This record gives sequence, C-alpha cells and structure tokens, in this order.
Amino acid sequence: MILNVNGSKHEVRTETRTLLDVLREDLGLMGTKEGCSVGMCGACTVLVDGKPLSSCLLLAEQAAGMEILTIEGVGSAENLHPVQQAFLDEGAFQCAYCTPGFVLTTVALLNENPSPSDNEIREYLAGNLCRCGSYQNILRAVKVASKSEAVKVVLKP
Ligand code: FES
Ligand code: FES
Repeated sequence: MILNVNGSKHEVRTETRTLLDVLREDLGLMGTKEGCSVGMCGACTVLVDGKPLSSCLLLAEQAAGMEILTIEGVGSAENLHPVQQAFLDEGAFQCAYCTPGFVLTTVALLNENPSPSDNEIREYLAGNLCRCGSYQNILRAVKVASKSEAVKVVLKP
C-alpha cells in the first residue's frame, strides 16, 4: 500500500494497523503523538486531505490515496510555519506534547476560516486537549497567527 505523506509516496506494510502506528513505527514521524489512543485527546492529529483527523482512529488503509500532512511537513526548525512561530512567540505550550496536534488543527482552521472569532477557535480546537492547561496562550497564538501576513502566504499554497 502506498501512503502519500508530506508530499512523498511511501510503501508501507498493509496488515491492519492504525495510521498513527504506521507514521511513527514505519516512517519514523515521531511528531505525531500518542495520547489516549481512543480519539479523545487530539495528540495524534494529522491532516488528511486538509481535514484534521485522529490518526489513532484511522486505519492506514483508509488514508491510502489521500494527502496526509504531519507536523514534520508543516515547517522545520530553521523555517517555522507562521502558526508554529505564533505558538513559540506566545508561549502556547509547556511540555509541548499536545502542540503538533494543535498546530495542525490550527492550520486547517485558518485554511477554512482565515479570521476566526474566539468562539470559532474554541469550537474548532475542542478536540485537542492540553493537559498543561495552556489554553489561554494557545487561543492568543491562534489569533496572532490569523492576523499575520506570513500565514496568508503559506496557507493553501
Ligand atoms: S491519541 Fe488519538 S485522539 Fe488521543
Ligand atoms: S503543553 Fe503539555 S499537554 Fe499541552
């Protein structure tokens, strides 16, 4: 089976496994985190054809032929995505375990709705939990990102 991840095609083993396991174990994409494993925390969020999905709930086969984006495809240490930069600038994390999921969900949100209200942000990010309770800073980071000129350049390239 071929998976299209971060713009590259990967041949992966086909027995029934979650997309989360395939990303981490076969492709070494450790930025996709495992939290609850039952679709409740959002730590494992990836974008599939632009939509945020819990990779712990998805069989890898279900994502075949779709565009999968993980945090590794969003930016790099040398060249952060504006959403990542906003999270960094606003201190929108403590342990950062939840951050890849929040960043990917924010990228999807801003693609769909470039100027979300506070309530729209809260609603869209409701499936992502932060055990460190960084919610106020996360909300601020999403608002900062939504107002940045840089974000308009990189979203929906
Ligand atoms: S690990 Fe997938 S939603 Fe929690
Ligand atoms: S920063 Fe620790 S879980 Fe969110």
